[in-house]
Amino acid sequence: MDLVEAIESRRSVRAYLPTPVPQETVAAIMELSLRSPSGTNMQPWTVHAVSGAVKQGIADDVIASRLRVRETGVQEHHGERVFYPDDLGEPWRARRRAIGWDLYGLLGIKKGDRERTFDQHNRNYTLFDAPVGLFVFIDKSLEVGSWLDLGMLMQTIMLVAREHGLHTCPQAAWHIYHQIVRKWTGAGENESLAAVIALGYEDTLAIENTLRTPREPLEKVVTFSGFD
Ligand SMILES: Cc1cc2nc3c(=O)[nH]c(=O)nc-3n(C[C@H](O)[C@H](O)[C@H](O)COP(=O)(O)O)c2cc1C
Repeated sequence: MDLVEAIESRRSVRAYLPTPVPQETVAAIMELSLRSPSGTNMQPWTVHAVSGAVKQGIADDVIASRLRVRETGVQEHHGERVFYPDDLGEPWRARRRAIGWDLYGLLGIKKGDRERTFDQHNRNYTLFDAPVGLFVFIDKSLEVGSWLDLGMLMQTIMLVAREHGLHTCPQAAWHIYHQIVRKWTGAGENESLAAVIALGYEDTLAIENTLRTPREPLEKVVTFSGFD
């Protein structure tokens, strides 16, 4: 697959087939992805790849916690940093709402349907049934410059996955559950959970996978100066 095809065919897939992804395939994807650049070549990342019983254990623990929180109203887990501002301004707020409504609209989940919204949100924690989760951590001592590097690694992983016929979904939804993930993966207290990538074979019959997301036009994003 050439690069253009990989970029154009990558999208966030939110329903997967049970078809397993062998450890050797995950290792091959990671081996190549570790060529990603990082500021001063610090390579500030660690990736914990999980599947099978570990993946299930993490999902069970997170969903059990979410059910208790729904019952008691008392949050049991907290993020290690602010991930997105609470008072999201425009145009960020409108764009975030649009993707939410588009996805929930496809699934037939109406505004105010708390039960189905809760269940759909929980699908993040089963990795949308993907057989593999890549839990991306960064050393806690590092700052924003090194967080940039994580994005490079994650995008490379998602593109290399396409070469293997696999799809992905990057997920921020996990970040408050770092203690549960740490327990199951053996990640150290010095490691901070940044994001997760679900990895697997797309369920092409799933309605949510028909979602296509827009982008702003070039003229709104890029300015050109000094060209003849
Ligand atoms: C850092 C990051 C975090 C994301 N977190 C989630 C998430 O928690 N759950 C989810 O369903 N999608 C998540 N997404 C997917 C975005 O919604 C998606 O990338 C965006 O809507 C563009 O769609 P596309 O990936 O299909 O091109 C995340 C994407 C990124 C880059």
